[in-house]
Amino acid sequence: MTIIRQEFSMQLTDALRQEHLTMRRLLGYMTEQAAALKTRDEILILAGVLEHLLALHGDDEENFLLATLDHLEEHQGTLTMMHQQHGELDGHLRALAQIQRLPALRARFLQLIDAVEQHFQFEERAVFPLLEKYLPPALLAKLGSVVGMQPEAQPAGC
Ligand SMILES: [Fe+2]
Ligand SMILES: [Fe+2]
Repeated sequence: MTIIRQEFSMQLTDALRQEHLTMRRLLGYMTEQAAALKTRDEILILAGVLEHLLALHGDDEENFLLATLDHLEEHQGTLTMMHQQHGELDGHLRALAQIQRLPALRARFLQLIDAVEQHFQFEERAVFPLLEKYLPPALLAKLGSVVGMQPEAQPAGC
């Protein structure tokens, strides 16, 4: 897997867009299945999967984007907005576990899915273009090769 990633490495922004695409497929599946979910646990398990993927993805964004663009004072508002939205999504996810009634939980779960989509659109419209404008292609490619490769995301033995 590592060899394949190195030979076909993507630029950072393309790797992050690819992760958005993968999670959008999951969001679409969750939206389709939401009406058929009959217990709190079923919804909370799906939300837990989404939470894990968003955490890994968001950690990459926080680490790479804030580290490389933090000196661009005119764009601090955009970076701060991204950071705030990550926190808001975390709050939405934590709040789900406090909801006891299934209809209310299902409704909040669908609101969360919509909020994630809105966040992805914001990043693709306002954040990723900053990386492509200010980082040299070689650095984008180097960072892209390590997206999703945090220790907790690596297969055992790597
Ligand atoms: Fe994000
Ligand atoms: Fe993202």
